[in-house]
Amino acid sequence: MGLQRRRHPERWVIPAVPPTYVLSTAALLLLVVFAFLSLLAPPLPDHPSFPHPLFCHRCSHLPSLLVFSPSVLSLNLFSLFEFLIAIFGLLKNPVELQRNVVAADPFRVPSGGGSPVSDLWGSKQAKYFYGCSNASSEFAKEEAITQPNRYLMIATSGGLNQQRTGITDAVVAARILNATLVVPKLDQKSFWKDASDFAEIFDVDWFISSLSKDVKIIKQLPKKGGKVIGTPYTMRVPRKCAPTCYETRVLPVLLKKHIVQLTKFDYRLSNKLETNLQKLRCRVNYHALRFTDPIQEMGDRLIRRMKARSKHFIALHLRFEPDMLAFSGCYYGGGEKERTELGAIRKRWKTLHTSNSDKERRHGKCPLTPEEVGLLLRALGFGKDVHIYVASGEVYGGEETLAPLKAVFPNFHSKETLASKVELAPFAAFSSRMAALDFIVCDGSDVFVTNNNGNMARMLAGRRRYFGHRRTIRPNAKKLYSVFLNRTCMAWEAFASKVRTCQKGFMGEPNEVRPGRGEFHENPSTCICENSKKESATTYHIQSKIGIENGKSNSTRSIGEPTDNPSTDEESDWRDFDYGENTPLGGSLNGTDQEYNLFIRSEVPDLQEMLSD
Ligand SMILES: *[C@@H]1O[C@H](CO)[C@@H](O)[C@H](O)[C@H]1NC(C)=O
Ligand SMILES: *[C@@H]1O[C@H](CO)[C@@H](O)[C@H](O)[C@H]1NC(C)=O
Ligand SMILES: *[C@@H]1O[C@H](CO)[C@@H](O)[C@H](O)[C@H]1NC(C)=O
Ligand SMILES: *[C@@H]1O[C@H](CO)[C@@H](O)[C@H](O)[C@H]1NC(C)=O
Ligand SMILES: *[C@@H]1O[C@H](CO)[C@@H](O)[C@H](O)[C@H]1NC(C)=O
Repeated sequence: MGLQRRRHPERWVIPAVPPTYVLSTAALLLLVVFAFLSLLAPPLPDHPSFPHPLFCHRCSHLPSLLVFSPSVLSLNLFSLFEFLIAIFGLLKNPVELQRNVVAADPFRVPSGGGSPVSDLWGSKQAKYFYGCSNASSEFAKEEAITQPNRYLMIATSGGLNQQRTGITDAVVAARILNATLVVPKLDQKSFWKDASDFAEIFDVDWFISSLSKDVKIIKQLPKKGGKVIGTPYTMRVPRKCAPTCYETRVLPVLLKKHIVQLTKFDYRLSNKLETNLQKLRCRVNYHALRFTDPIQEMGDRLIRRMKARSKHFIALHLRFEPDMLAFSGCYYGGGEKERTELGAIRKRWKTLHTSNSDKERRHGKCPLTPEEVGLLLRALGFGKDVHIYVASGEVYGGEETLAPLKAVFPNFHSKETLASKVELAPFAAFSSRMAALDFIVCDGSDVFVTNNNGNMARMLAGRRRYFGHRRTIRPNAKKLYSVFLNRTCMAWEAFASKVRTCQKGFMGEPNEVRPGRGEFHENPSTCICENSKKESATTYHIQSKIGIENGKSNSTRSIGEPTDNPSTDEESDWRDFDYGENTPLGGSLNGTDQEYNLFIRSEVPDLQEMLSD
């Protein structure tokens, strides 16, 4: 009976006792007037609440007054509000009122981490796994298979990591064809026009010698009587070409012409291969491809400088370049200015159809904003004292865009802040060498996080799995979307808890992605072994606290499998471009017009190819 009356929707207007009614109405009136005045006042700058036009989302269950400007309310109004509530509470049922107050608790980002997760800096399960890519005894030695007069040349394509994929697969393609591989040519004409050749980025002698049992690799075509033995026949294979595809398409040409050059070589070998070939992929990618000493030493120096600042550090690969944002077709909350600017860039790709930015976001196809990355990390439990290394190209909106992230993580570093201009001089003019430095630091970080699912993010995710499942956080953008959208409707704790739920299966835990799912370079499951047979029965099911908090995890359907993962075998879109990985922080759109034109001319056919893939 009493319960029923309490639930009555009109309880606020039914006067229980006349004097109470008068008093409560007066109090409410005062409250409304005060709230109105408060809203006219400017928000207080030292109390970030991250208002964002995109996210001023009306919450149906709360009065909108309490939603629009929580920081203002929290400072100017909140104590008064509580005071009035207290008076009011004396007259009405106090328990019932308590519930209403809780809903109005503002969204305040705490500075402490307060993580409920004990293995934030590294997975406890990692020690049960290790990378295993040695060839089995039945894998024939190079001398036994290499046929004379079969030379495979490769021209890679794209940015550093896309090229890395191409180089890795080139070795395997040569193996499939029983051919001698000529050291791959790097893409010097892509968007970033880095003139470096293979030997200026990678240790070429090590590359050749460490693979000597698998594939015969030479630096250039042999000469006969002072003349190169021939000119290559140039062709292109389809994307994700399987071994039989190489045998039917390339082998006949190779037998006839003897020298074949495959162009635009990036994702040209199928994901699924027999174990021996997958392991070869891992030997190339994780052991044979080493950066040159100057690059590796500079990268190591940057890592040492981060470690000198704190015991652990996070590396963030942040992609937020204007062209990439334009290409993504997403809206990032910058109003008409953003729509105009990104729209103008978008027009340069004449083949792009108009996009539905809301749909892109709902499907998890939009990179997180710097602000969202900051909130994600804090929600996962990283406090304000944590040091962050940010690997980033030009950030659209510059410092203004980065400010909310820096407010959450003030210990903000980049290669430009850690090293002097003089130290960076040998690398600065070469986009791939700069990208390599970022690659090394991201690889050497305790926690690696990205706001995107591009080539570098995927390459590093796989590499970090192989070398001991080091903590790698990939935003589950598809699920985070609605949490970010609704964040002003909840208290911080509720928000943080939802974020942690979304991130289950996206934390770089062993076995969070089912073997064979996703792209191989991202999930090299064939090359990951468990420590002992005894453990294996259990470890497959055990995940860290992050992995199984809600008990939903189960080995038949791992939470991180690509139903929630934006990257699938079939998909390939703007994320396949990593040309923007490496302009120095604070660069500008400037001076690239020529390059844009070049980019458009040379890339449009492929762009179409990728989108229709
Ligand atoms: C792989 O081979 C190397 C040397 O060839 C050896 O040192 C290493 O222990 C091997 N790894 C495994 C997992 O067998
Ligand atoms: C490569 O050599 C192996 C071993 O001789 C042979 O079984 C295979 O058919 C050859 N493949 C091609 C494409 O020549
Ligand atoms: C966000 O709000 C919308 C509409 O109010 C609701 O449908 C959705 O379930 C909410 N999402 C979360 C994660 O709270
Ligand atoms: C895992 O989930 C599937 C379906 O979601 C269910 O059929 C299966 O029994 C579950 N396995 C375990 C071990 O909980
Ligand atoms: C372009 O670069 C020049 C100097 O190189 C600079 O003066 C100018 O302000 C830049 N323009 C833009 C739009 O950033």
